[in-house]
Amino acid sequence: MKKYARITGTGSYLPTKVVTNFDLEKTLDTSDEWITARTGIKERRIVTGQNTCDLALEASIKALSMAKIEPEEIDLIILSTTTPDKIFPATATMLQNRLGASCPAFDLQAVCAGFVFALTTAQQYIENGSAKNILVVGSETMSKIVDWSDRSTAILFADGAGAVVLSADNTTGIKHSKLFSDGSYLSSLHVNNNGIDELGTIQMEGNEVFKIAVNRLSDLAEETLNECNMSSEDLTWMVPHQANIRIIKAVAKRIKLPMEKVIQTLDKHGNTSAASIPLALDVGVRDGRIKKGDTLLFEGIGGGFSWGSVLLEY
Ligand code: ACO
Repeated sequence: MKKYARITGTGSYLPTKVVTNFDLEKTLDTSDEWITARTGIKERRIVTGQNTCDLALEASIKALSMAKIEPEEIDLIILSTTTPDKIFPATATMLQNRLGASCPAFDLQAVCAGFVFALTTAQQYIENGSAKNILVVGSETMSKIVDWSDRSTAILFADGAGAVVLSADNTTGIKHSKLFSDGSYLSSLHVNNNGIDELGTIQMEGNEVFKIAVNRLSDLAEETLNECNMSSEDLTWMVPHQANIRIIKAVAKRIKLPMEKVIQTLDKHGNTSAASIPLALDVGVRDGRIKKGDTLLFEGIGGGFSWGSVLLEY
């Protein structure tokens, strides 16, 4: 019998420190009005002393609790992050130890597309029968690679974590997934370190990234719906990567999806890279908007560039 990969638990965690646009006005030549109009972001959370694994742990505990899964029942942990705590071991391995799990664990790096890449990878393990329960996490401390004197990036990125438990199901779950990468875009969005002896900071050609994101994500949403023989009317919710409200609106308009069917957390979370989709998902699940049986579309695009979508029945 075919096995489906179904989300059975969600969890998220945000650091407690809130940095508002008004706070940024004090250190940067910017304004709340400009940031709100151009991005939709009003505030973001920034770590004080915590690392990526600390955030991942809190989100994971909540997802496991919702799924009613004990750490020893997890068959695999995939943690998507751009900001691992160490060069090695993988942050996922540190998470495995802190959770008290004993399964294989690895990190996956696809920047803001990381969660859809991790979910699609986990889907393969469930569908081929080699895992029953997989913990998929997106966790980031993007504040550590932001140049806080650069107003074009410092206003965007933020910290947080989201997690899901993906479990084998006989009837429904992920229906479709699609991934792409094109490394020729490196200069549009990258970190400027020259090797592992330096950390570097995010460098972005904002206008260029904006256009690429709108085009790639719109094409992807259309292709995904076509390949599933669906229209946007069949979607209950789109849960997009939270990068810029204007990107989200442009994609929704192109596929004729009303904004009332889009989960938005950008105003409060900013761009948390690999954490943004599972964070938004958890918000929608816990406030009761997303219900069992709903059809969801996730899609994200990230640095230099990777992008992808997952369509599923929740
Ligand atoms: N405050 C005030 N003014 C600013 C700021 C700021 N924070 N940042 C830039 N400006 C200025 C620029 O200097 C420019 O001034 P000029 O006209 O005198 O030269 C003016 O505002 C317009 O700049 P643009 O870059 O054209 O502004 P734009 O409308 O494109 O908005 C933004 C910039 C918000 C960065 C937008 O391009 C964007 O969102 N791009 C996509 C970024 C993104 O989503 N990145 C992540 C996606 S992938 C991932 O998540 C890794």
